[in-house]
Amino acid sequence: MCGIVGHVGRTEVLRKLLAGLKRLEYRGYDSAGAALFRNGVLEVKRVVGDVATLATSLAGFEDLGQTIGIVHTRWATHGDVNEANAHPHRSCVNSPHCKEVVVLVHNGTIDNFQEQRAELLERGHVLLSDTDTELIAHLIAEAYDGDPLRAVRTGLDRVVGTYGLAVLFQNDPARIYFARNGSPLVLGLSEVGNFVASDPLAFREYTDKMVTIDDGCVGWVSLDRYHVVNMQDVPVACTVETIPWSLESAERGEHDHYMAKEIAEQPAMLRNGFRGRLLPNGEVKLGGLEASGDILAATLSHSFVGAGTSLNAGMIGKVLFQEVADVHADWENASELANQKQPRFRDRTAFWALSQSGETMDLLGALETIQRYGVPCFGIVNKVGSLIARKTGRGVYIHAGLEIAVASTKAFTNQVLALTLIALYLRQLHGLPRDAWVDRLVADIHRLPELAAQLVDREPDVRAIAERYAGYPNFLYLGRGINYPTALEGALKLKEIAYVNAIGYSAGEMKHGPIALIDGGFPTMVIAPKQDDYYAQVLTNVQQIRARHGRVVAVATDGDEGIRQCVNDVIWVPPVDYFLTPILAVIPQQQFAYHVAKIRGLNPDRPRNLAKSVTVR
Ligand code: M6R
Repeated sequence: MCGIVGHVGRTEVLRKLLAGLKRLEYRGYDSAGAALFRNGVLEVKRVVGDVATLATSLAGFEDLGQTIGIVHTRWATHGDVNEANAHPHRSCVNSPHCKEVVVLVHNGTIDNFQEQRAELLERGHVLLSDTDTELIAHLIAEAYDGDPLRAVRTGLDRVVGTYGLAVLFQNDPARIYFARNGSPLVLGLSEVGNFVASDPLAFREYTDKMVTIDDGCVGWVSLDRYHVVNMQDVPVACTVETIPWSLESAERGEHDHYMAKEIAEQPAMLRNGFRGRLLPNGEVKLGGLEASGDILAATLSHSFVGAGTSLNAGMIGKVLFQEVADVHADWENASELANQKQPRFRDRTAFWALSQSGETMDLLGALETIQRYGVPCFGIVNKVGSLIARKTGRGVYIHAGLEIAVASTKAFTNQVLALTLIALYLRQLHGLPRDAWVDRLVADIHRLPELAAQLVDREPDVRAIAERYAGYPNFLYLGRGINYPTALEGALKLKEIAYVNAIGYSAGEMKHGPIALIDGGFPTMVIAPKQDDYYAQVLTNVQQIRARHGRVVAVATDGDEGIRQCVNDVIWVPPVDYFLTPILAVIPQQQFAYHVAKIRGLNPDRPRNLAKSVTVR
């Protein structure tokens, strides 16, 4: 995780660095720091806290006319959250071991950290932090022979792990050096100077021109040039791309939080998700799969892989593929698959890698395993051009727009929509009949934006229910079939932003253990749309809870008077095709978690210990 920004410019360099870093706070916000030149001397400033705290601590720097600097916002991996462990880190000063003062910021983790640390200490280096990052500064400074780029390459030769790095050298105050392996890094090219950052969001205000740095590349940016080579010093040709989104879409607008904005954007994003993909004759067209028709036609088994919310969507994908496309489907947790020593894949399997960010390290690990075994893998990704989108090279973009809040919302609904479209596409590909229920499903996809908009309008009703339940420290979430993962997703939202011990369970499993938890102080949220195949069974589970004095909130279909009689509170959702119920049922759960967090005095956009993109293992 962590956010990196570096800028070489003419004016207001510090202001631009801090504004860019502020936009990257979704990547981490436990501590922050900057490296800037003061009278030709490289200085480092670090604070525990967020970018605003860093800005205050840099008060004296604004007027010094900086033309270059690097800044960082941290999500701790190695070492506590304290000033010494905050970035930037520097090499030894006035020591025979470090031949240059090197200061750097890092996103990633170093796997051979213990070994390198022991060796550096043995060689007499003085290490001032508990981080893995500091070692890189020492290794580069030790390798320095007057050529900074060679020093970066040689220093990194000893490093095993992932990194996105921005590096300053005391004796080269006109260039920022950089390197990438496994952690995102892009260059921004503008009239006002050039940037290096973990995400183009950092510089979108100044330019829409960017260059994505590939793994295994190092280089530098100056005011008006950049240079990229591989680890063998062979120049790498780069493509200048146009950033496909506007700065406006990255603003919070009238909303108090990004999470609220993104929940409210779902009607529009759902429309983007199927626009141009449902043809007037009812067929589904997915450009990213067209070249893979043969592979898909020959595939006997599909598997979804992802983490967190994306995994929950993948679990829904299993039901959609089995029931809509009539193919075998399963799912895998990305971190588990990445670590499997002896993975065994079914014959003629295809994987589908789900990710909002397209840079989740666990998923990249799983992808490496899948591709090592020669198994085809398709991406279902939000961020266009992201690492996972590029590594899979084929698949479907979900078109949910920029998602900035740590808690994923609109990405989930658009992932489920994309999975529904892919399931319909496979049904078509396999020549299965176009039954009446397929027409009804397609018709309801067209209605999704309007139905989701109704839910956005009903938010005050959900807020009123959240007020009644915000004091409970525990919550059970139950659902069956296609809505079992919906329950998991509702529980994940409440857990991550409201710090409520919310447990998602399959409703049928409840009687095998979790029911022991139930009493008057342990409420349950039950996902019970009337169209659900398991509706009657879910109602039985509700009765079992009520018999034990458990309070129940039901997410139920408009007009379902029966359920109103047997639960304490109801969150109403409009009727929709069974296969689309997760999309509608999840929206009020996102709103519920959002309001519980707010009522508990928490900032839903800044959950503790979390960051938006999990780029560490
Ligand atoms: O970017 P990805 O979809 O790959 O991220 C996966 C998870 O880290 C992510 O969904 C996480 O669980 C969210 N905080 C959930 O709201």
